[in-house]
Amino acid sequence: MSGALPSAASLYRRVWRVIPPGEWAAFSDDIEAILALKRERNAVILAHNYQTPEIFHCVADIVGDSLALARKAMTVEAQVIVLAGVHFMAETAKLLNPDKTVLIPDLDAGCSLADSITAQDVRLMRQRYPGVPIVTYVNTSAEVKAESDICCTSGNAKAVVESLGASRVIMLPDEYLAHNIAAQTGVEIIAWKGHCEVHERFTPADIRELRESHPGVTVLAHPECPPDVVAEADFSGSTAAMCDYVEMQKPPRVVLMTECSMSDNVALAHPEIEFIRPCNLCPHMKQITLANIRMALEQNRHVVTLEPAIAGRARLAVERMLTI
Ligand code: 13P
Ligand code: SF4
Repeated sequence: MSGALPSAASLYRRVWRVIPPGEWAAFSDDIEAILALKRERNAVILAHNYQTPEIFHCVADIVGDSLALARKAMTVEAQVIVLAGVHFMAETAKLLNPDKTVLIPDLDAGCSLADSITAQDVRLMRQRYPGVPIVTYVNTSAEVKAESDICCTSGNAKAVVESLGASRVIMLPDEYLAHNIAAQTGVEIIAWKGHCEVHERFTPADIRELRESHPGVTVLAHPECPPDVVAEADFSGSTAAMCDYVEMQKPPRVVLMTECSMSDNVALAHPEIEFIRPCNLCPHMKQITLANIRMALEQNRHVVTLEPAIAGRARLAVERMLTI
């Protein structure tokens, strides 16, 4: 990397539609410091689609859904990766880059799905259903991944389940994703009772009210939403699939039944589209801020470490997924 770094003032042109000038004033100092630190430390920032626009559009180098972040983490040349997302995403980046430094700016950036299941739970499921393949959502700890046969994300869950060629599959820990994939594949799926605390709150009544108050609205729902919500939506897909849908179909009026920052980030690229914005905040994603990204780079914290024996087995499950 060489040449002059962009000024915060020039970056504001990317986000002025969603960040008022008063709020921006509090960000510009951290943005300029982060850009300089990235260069100094040979670092890149990977940001999930749920990160706030000042992170997503102004300091991130690579953005996307969980699948894209995992795939792109494998191609990173920089020595330091800062994961602007939640802890399981940072662990996945570390699994795929054992020799690099991976930093998560706040250790409390967890996930209700990852918290819903332990490695011991997975071992018990294997005992209870011998021979049934275990697919684990990437929204889990490395210990849980290490106990499973293959991982999936919301972007490839259907393809992963179909790739197994099995009539019965265990899919952990998101109950709703499991039921949504069962409906799409016809495979019998044994689920766990984990839920995403953001998506479980959407209801079919929300969609009906939206359709009434905003005639013609196209409804896109994340597959972590309950099946009756997905059934009422016009389309269901991962955060990246929702972005692609908007890009390709250009619905004049759209609502994304997912985390709040998604609409801001996607709306910036599509000023011609009307985004209706009932959304739910993910408190874990919102732990990540410009201030703690700056501190992560300044103080080299918090370094993600994995126990080698667990990392090796968890990496296999992630790598198997990435070959699909
Ligand atoms: P995506 O893989 O669709 O980006 O979802 C990740 C996530 O945490 C959704 O809640
Ligand atoms: Fe976890 Fe849900 Fe937050 Fe995604 S949105 S990180 S699944 S709690």
